[in-house]
Amino acid sequence: MTFEIAVTFRIAVPFSIEGIAFQRMDRTLIICKPDAVERGLVGEILGRFERKGLKLAAAELRVLDEETLARHYAEHQGKPFYNDLVAFMSRGPVLVAVVEGVSETWRVARQMIGATDPLAADPGTIRGDLGNQFTENLIHGSDSGESAEREIAIFFPDLSRG
Ligand code: RTP
Ligand code: MG
Repeated sequence: MTFEIAVTFRIAVPFSIEGIAFQRMDRTLIICKPDAVERGLVGEILGRFERKGLKLAAAELRVLDEETLARHYAEHQGKPFYNDLVAFMSRGPVLVAVVEGVSETWRVARQMIGATDPLAADPGTIRGDLGNQFTENLIHGSDSGESAEREIAIFFPDLSRG
């Protein structure tokens, strides 16, 4: 008499890397404005994004010309504050950067940046904690996913997915 014994091994995989290895990061554009550079606050601002877990994908110190600002702030051309805005944004170097996170990075960054007017921005936000006057509000952040891709294409065309 013979017996047949079938033995099955099951190996439990402790975690799945599916979906992580090739996940496409979501990006947004930020600009540390001339007042942030003048006041030595670039490290503080970038540090906040890094502590949040957003990763720096590109960064460059630049002086922006009128043409670049006209593209970047196209939605504001013709408004009463436009000329003052361009004069402010071109008066010295800015730090243009792309930061990336898992999703809705533009929204995460805008929450961290706070309201346009630093005097009205909540404590805990960059503008609320560090800003003290209206136009000079330290930092720009894209206001939607579409804006982020449009603005990244202006400042970092090599990174553009468009
Ligand atoms: P940003 O584009 O620079 O991130 O700022 P934001 O979305 O919070 O505000 P936005 O309405 O896009 O305005 C762009 C920048 O223009 C200046 N501003 N001045 N005097 C005024 O009425 C006025 N309104 C806007 C600010 O520097 C603002 O960040
Ligand atoms: Mg804006």
